[in-house]
Amino acid sequence: MARRMGSEEWATAALAEIAAAKTVADVEALRVQYLGRQGRVTRELRAMAGLPPDERRARGAVLNACKADIEQALAQQREVLTRAEQAQRLEAERLDMTLPGVPPAWGTMHPITRVRRRLADVMVRLGFTIRTGPELETEWYNFEALNMPAEHPAREMHDTFYLEAPYVLRTHTSPFQIRAMREAGGELPLRVATLGFTYRRDDDATHTPQFMQMEGLVVDRGIGLPDLKGVVLAVVRDVFGPTERVRLRPSFFPFTEPSAEVDMSCPLCLGAGCRVCHTGWIEVLGSGLVHPRVLEAGGYDPREVSGFAFGWGVERVAMLLYGLDELRPLYQNDVRFLQAFDAWGAW
Ligand code: DAH
Repeated sequence: MARRMGSEEWATAALAEIAAAKTVADVEALRVQYLGRQGRVTRELRAMAGLPPDERRARGAVLNACKADIEQALAQQREVLTRAEQAQRLEAERLDMTLPGVPPAWGTMHPITRVRRRLADVMVRLGFTIRTGPELETEWYNFEALNMPAEHPAREMHDTFYLEAPYVLRTHTSPFQIRAMREAGGELPLRVATLGFTYRRDDDATHTPQFMQMEGLVVDRGIGLPDLKGVVLAVVRDVFGPTERVRLRPSFFPFTEPSAEVDMSCPLCLGAGCRVCHTGWIEVLGSGLVHPRVLEAGGYDPREVSGFAFGWGVERVAMLLYGLDELRPLYQNDVRFLQAFDAWGAW
C-alpha cells in the first residue's frame, strides 16, 4: 500500500490516524478531513490541473491509489468501531430478567360505586327498572313540575348552580319522577328508580356540593303508604341486615301528600340509642304519596291512580354502612382512604 502511495507522507500519516481513531464520530471527522470538499485528497487532485500531461497522469495514479487506500481504511475502521460500540451498548443496556417486576397499580371500587350498585341491585330485585335522567335540568322539571313554584320557600333549601336560563344543575333526583311518568305515557304499573349525581350550594363535613341520590317511584291503582313502607323496609334490610326496622315520621315535601321522613333503626346500636343516633333511630330518606299535581304534570289522572316516591342520599348509606363520620373524603380521591374499602370485598 505504502508503495503505491509513493512518498506521500501525509497519506501514510492519514492511514495511521484512521487506524488510531477511537469512535465512529472520529472516523467521520477524518473522512471529512481527507475526502471532504476541502479535504486533503480533494485539494491534491485539484492541484493537478496545472501539471503537464505526463506528470499529471503519473500524479493522478498516485493520488487515486492514496484515495482508494484512505477510503478502504475509513470503511474498515468504521465497521470495527461500530461493532465495538454496539457490543458495548448491548452490555450496558442488558436487561436483568431476574429483577422483580413493577406491580401494576390496582384500583379499588369507590365506596359510592359499591353502594350505588348494591342499591340498584335491590331495586331491580324488587321489580324496579333503573333509568337515568339528566344532571342538567330545566327549572320546570327541577321545581315547577314538582309543585315548587318560583316563590316557594322550599326552594331555599335547594340553592343550586343556575346556568343560562332555563337550566340548573338538578338539586335532587325528583325531576326524574316527571320524566319517567311522561315517558311511560300513562302505562301502569310504573316502577322506576334512578341513581345519580345532584348538586347544591352546600359544603361542610357532612355535605358536599356534588352528592348522589337514589329516587324511586311507583304509580299504579290503589298505591298507599303500606306499599312505600314495605319497599323501604326491604331495601334497608337488604343493605343493613334482616333485623332492621323502619318508621315513618310525618313531614313536608311540596311534591308529596302526605309526606314522611323515614327513619331506620340505628345499625350501630341496633336501636338501643348511642352516641351517633341518640334516639336509636336514624333518618335516612324523604318520601310520601305522590302529590296530585305531580301526577298531573307526569300525565296521569290523580282520580284514577296514586303513587309513592322516595329520595335517598347515597353517601348517607355509605357513611352508615362504613361507619364514616365525614362525607368529604369520599370526594377527595385520596387512594389511601379509598383502598381501605377493599376490606368489604365484592361490595
Ligand atoms: N327530593 C327530596 C330532597 O332531595 C327528597 C325526596 C323527598 C324525594 C320526598 C322524594 C320524596 O321522592 O317523595 O330533599
